[in-house]
Amino acid sequence: MEVLVSRKEHFNAAHKLYNPTWSDEKNKEVFGPCANENWHGHNFELIVTVIGTPDPETGFVIDLKKLSTLIRAEVTDKVDHKNLNLDVDFMQGKMASSEVLATEIWKILEPQIPVVSKTGRLHSVKLYETPRNFVEILA
Ligand code: NI
Repeated sequence: MEVLVSRKEHFNAAHKLYNPTWSDEKNKEVFGPCANENWHGHNFELIVTVIGTPDPETGFVIDLKKLSTLIRAEVTDKVDHKNLNLDVDFMQGKMASSEVLATEIWKILEPQIPVVSKTGRLHSVKLYETPRNFVEILA
């Protein structure tokens, strides 16, 4: 039987939604206050879920301490207290939406899960931009 195991991490980051190929007027029309030139911030919650069969020796699908260390080293340390548009290497040249950020987080974590888990694989990345607005990527 496969089991879903999740770890939640937290980070704060600034961004703006702005398409440089559009006029300022069009950016304001499409993105509203999220296009605010001088940035705005969010308290993000990131939930990473791994699916797999528990290892008979440990009873674990994945050691959650190792998953936490992985998420921090590869993702949250790189985005926490940063500007997503300016400071984050894996977001360079991309729209700083939660959809795009979650996609990039998936690409970073997916190949790393087998390094810390014998049977686990990445099942989902869920990213809360606010308590009410969140995106999810499923395998
Ligand atoms: Ni925003």
